[in-house]
Amino acid sequence: MVAPPTVSVVSGDVTKAKADVIVVNLFQGVKKPGGAAGVVDAALGGAISDLLRLGDFKGKRKEAGVLMTNGKLPSPRVIVVGLGKQKGFDLDAVREVSARAATVARGRGCKTLATVVHGAGIGRLDPAEAAYATVEGALLGLYRYREYKSPPKDDDEPEKEITDIRLVEQDAGKARRMAKAVKEAENVASITNDVRTLVNRPSMDKPPQAMASTAVAWAKKYGFRATVLEKADLQRLKMGGLLGVGAGSVHPPRLVVLEKRGKKKAKKVLLVGKGITFDSGGISIKPAQGMDQMRHDMAGAAAVLGAMSVAATEGLDAHVVALMPLAENMPSGSAIRPGDVLRSYDGTTIEVANTDAEGRLVLADAIGYGIKEFDPDLVIDIATLTGAVKVALGAIMTGVFANDDKLAKRLIEAGAAVGDDVWQLPYNKEYASHVKSDVADLRNTGVNWGGSVTAAAFLGHFAKKKKWAHLDIAGTCWTERTTGDLKQEWHAKGATGVGVRLLAQYLRMVK
Ligand code: BES
Ligand code: MN
Ligand code: ZN
Repeated sequence: MVAPPTVSVVSGDVTKAKADVIVVNLFQGVKKPGGAAGVVDAALGGAISDLLRLGDFKGKRKEAGVLMTNGKLPSPRVIVVGLGKQKGFDLDAVREVSARAATVARGRGCKTLATVVHGAGIGRLDPAEAAYATVEGALLGLYRYREYKSPPKDDDEPEKEITDIRLVEQDAGKARRMAKAVKEAENVASITNDVRTLVNRPSMDKPPQAMASTAVAWAKKYGFRATVLEKADLQRLKMGGLLGVGAGSVHPPRLVVLEKRGKKKAKKVLLVGKGITFDSGGISIKPAQGMDQMRHDMAGAAAVLGAMSVAATEGLDAHVVALMPLAENMPSGSAIRPGDVLRSYDGTTIEVANTDAEGRLVLADAIGYGIKEFDPDLVIDIATLTGAVKVALGAIMTGVFANDDKLAKRLIEAGAAVGDDVWQLPYNKEYASHVKSDVADLRNTGVNWGGSVTAAAFLGHFAKKKKWAHLDIAGTCWTERTTGDLKQEWHAKGATGVGVRLLAQYLRMVK
């Protein structure tokens, strides 16, 4: 595995730094470059002014220009990156710009990069937050999934990686305040990237038992508790949903229970993440086209594992319990059939109208168990639950449904703060009729339309009187990086790590 770059903050002048490339920035619409860009411009005899005057560079958000310094500065190259318009400039812009600069630098074969902290100067953002976002943007943006790539052969040009990122800040006082933020950003980015690796990994190498071992290893590394319930435990607990969904696979299901205690009297939050290690659809099998993507159907479980890791390392106040119901949804002679009736942990009977609506079956057991066992103050589930949410919101925003508007609002707020954006969709009594069954208490699919709302209506039944929110990440957990689906520049191709930073931010807000 490629080690992530080392990151440091130094106080000084970026134009004096010696690295393979230095990064400076410009707002859109400026006529005369200022700050570090001004110093570079002067040293290079007006090269940046020329770019602007001739219209080669406008300073649009994420626009990047590369200049050679010809020995006029200690570093051989400069990347000038556009910050976009000053109005509306925010931490999202910082993350995007930083991701773009880092990937452009890597594309040029640079190994060491010295950069200004985007937004800390004329951008007038809080210096620590700007540094945090600059680091986050670069580290998330540089991520590539490489687990199964052979190492480059001797005679091949080795793939260049950035090994060293230096944030250079003029003001020594600001630089000192940035150091702690940089450490935190490195931790969050590394956890998010490890979550992405789990989600990208082929299903054959992450069956439920392997995911459970990973969770146990992370618990040890980051300092929280992990308990693994095996098939016999699930049978004893009568988890009909999780057992039913896992019945067709040679890899039996697991329920992983993670726990981190908090401050005395702090709120207890229950997180539940869908962990289908492969979703073939089961007997209601999916079409072949795109089925390979269903290896990402455990992105919810990976997200709660990541959020718990952040919560533990940051020592957050909240008491957090996270559940990972893990199963592989396969067709076979032992699989559940359409028309079968399962009994969920809380006793609710469920008619399986479609074996491909499996996520809600495993979530129902886990939500029921988490409420009974831990009596939390609130419940948040996160799941790649419906293709319909992709139709509704595309790949940029996660859908949230809640029986408590305040909770939905706070999740939206948390998402906006970290650029892991969330949009509210309806949860109310009207939709409960969608999941009524003629033969059992509930049915796992509804009418033809409103698939995401129907799924939420189903899950809400198991939250009972608890404050509860459901995040549907089927649209946002993965990107092909095609035009239109890419707002977040720091999303590399494949798994996005959605939910990790969102839930971590939410947990930071819980008192
Ligand atoms: N894992 C899928 C949802 C999904 C679809 C995730 C596309 C990511 C991308 C889920 O288990 C599923 O199959 N949902 C069905 C529900 C239907 C059978 C009611 C769907 O969305 O089609
Ligand atoms: Mn499915
Ligand atoms: Zn699924």
